[in-house]
Amino acid sequence: QKDGQLKGRKVIVTAGGTLEPIDPVRYISNRSSGKMGLAFAQAASEAGAEVLLITTSDLPVPFGVEVKRVETAQQMLDAILARYDWADLVVMAAAVADYRFSQPAEQKIKKQAEHQALHLDLVENPDILAQLGAAKTHQYLIGFAAETNDLLAHASEKLKKKHVDMLLANDVSKENIGFGYDTNELLILEPDKSPITLPLASKLELARKILLDVAKKIK
Ligand code: C5P
Repeated sequence: QKDGQLKGRKVIVTAGGTLEPIDPVRYISNRSSGKMGLAFAQAASEAGAEVLLITTSDLPVPFGVEVKRVETAQQMLDAILARYDWADLVVMAAAVADYRFSQPAEQKIKKQAEHQALHLDLVENPDILAQLGAAKTHQYLIGFAAETNDLLAHASEKLKKKHVDMLLANDVSKENIGFGYDTNELLILEPDKSPITLPLASKLELARKILLDVAKKIK
């Protein structure tokens, strides 16, 4: 067994944006690269944890990390729930689509006649983190919030509403922060504590720092 601050701990990390099918050849998604989640998976594994990475991303997976590849929010939820009891820590870094198509077409959708507009119906996806928060037994839950305005207010609301133990927020309207970049700047929120800012650093450095702190909390 590996040594480290998270030795013997079981960690689930989710990464990437979910893909929601329109028909067999099309989907909607978002700009999440999965890099923040990968950084957490690597940092947790380095710290001695057993890591299950549930990801939509094709990026190479850190050595020693178990991977489950999924596409939709529903598949991601099912994959987490199948192992939720096992986990001590869940890092919900995936960018889950809030909506999916109510009925993905079984055949490729053809162009409409006479240049008519095409209307597709969206229904709400499950809020995975909120469900995990409500079903929590012993798990420590980390959520994310990517915002373009009023970072602190929006993030504080998510911390409370989703019953997470730590919320990591970033302002994606800033340069070099968030989606696609290798760097990030994070605001750490915890219930009943003042927010802390971790200044711009690589996603891996940030993940290492945060997990070191979390490891003490779940001792
Ligand atoms: O989308 P939102 O900003 O609310 O995301 C905040 C947190 O909730 C993230 O950790 C994200 O992974 C999670 N989330 C989720 N299921 C959703 C939407 C978001 O688990 N349907």
